[in-house]
Amino acid sequence: MSVCYLNGDWLELSEARVSPMDRGFLFGDGAYEVLPAYSGKLFRLDEHLRRLEQTLSSMGLPNPMSRDEWRQTLRGIVERNPWPDQSIYLQVTRGVAEVRTHAYPAEVTPTVFLMSEALVMPSDEMRAAGVAAVSSADFRWLRCDLKTVSLLANCMLKQLAAEKGCMETVLFRDGFLTEGAASSIFVVHDGVLHVPPKSHLMLPGITYDVVLELARDRGMPCQVREVLEEEVRSADELWMTSSTKEVLPITRLDDRAVGKGKPGPMAEQMLEWYQDYKNQVMRRGG
Ligand code: PDD
Repeated sequence: MSVCYLNGDWLELSEARVSPMDRGFLFGDGAYEVLPAYSGKLFRLDEHLRRLEQTLSSMGLPNPMSRDEWRQTLRGIVERNPWPDQSIYLQVTRGVAEVRTHAYPAEVTPTVFLMSEALVMPSDEMRAAGVAAVSSADFRWLRCDLKTVSLLANCMLKQLAAEKGCMETVLFRDGFLTEGAASSIFVVHDGVLHVPPKSHLMLPGITYDVVLELARDRGMPCQVREVLEEEVRSADELWMTSSTKEVLPITRLDDRAVGKGKPGPMAEQMLEWYQDYKNQVMRRGG
């Protein structure tokens, strides 16, 4: 059983109901965030709220809650659910309009929904062996920096991986790496970690920032720059990162081994730093 929040009410997830006239349902007209909570402490709460604000303001959708109200509601959902480590999903849609018209209706109250799931980390075996990925042309739109619930393209791309028993789809646009269908992608070449710069073509990942901070603070050579498709295909190491997957080595791409076909030394180092940081900082609410 899990408790969710819907427009001011706390209720069982199975009891929650939204009108079919909700613009999230009809148009995918909404924003979302996924935040991990470790030992009940929400990780990088302000950063997630800032990203939500950016998405909402780009959509011309007034934020229905102040930062304090968000903090309170988010803490409320964590407290009402049983798992020590949780993945919190929050969604704001433009709300329920009387008629279906594409342009934004006036005076609609946004729908606010939050739910929680147990945060299930990749298994030790997955971390030890790495996972497989496929690649695809990135056929999404030109505002991939917005975290909107219009995710059909991401779902189609992730499905390509699922059909091949793979974990992720690595995306290329015009010969350059963008990101994964639901993760950021890092590339190691000759002892240097590379990741593309944030732009309208990728989501500004919260985990992306954490990994770069850890690398910079602890002296791992890293470069934020455009990464060519050939560089990904000839990489020594490839990692996917996200709030729910943390740092996960990709050891096969399109049925070919990445590097030596097992997690490389830099991935192992980063995994160790990330776990330390999680236990020392994140679990204490840092
Ligand atoms: N997705 N890029 C895309 C397209 C994503 O969907 C995600 C995360 C990321 C990584 O962002 P972060 O480090 O802030 O989690 C990058 C979430 C987990 C999801 O949609 O479920």
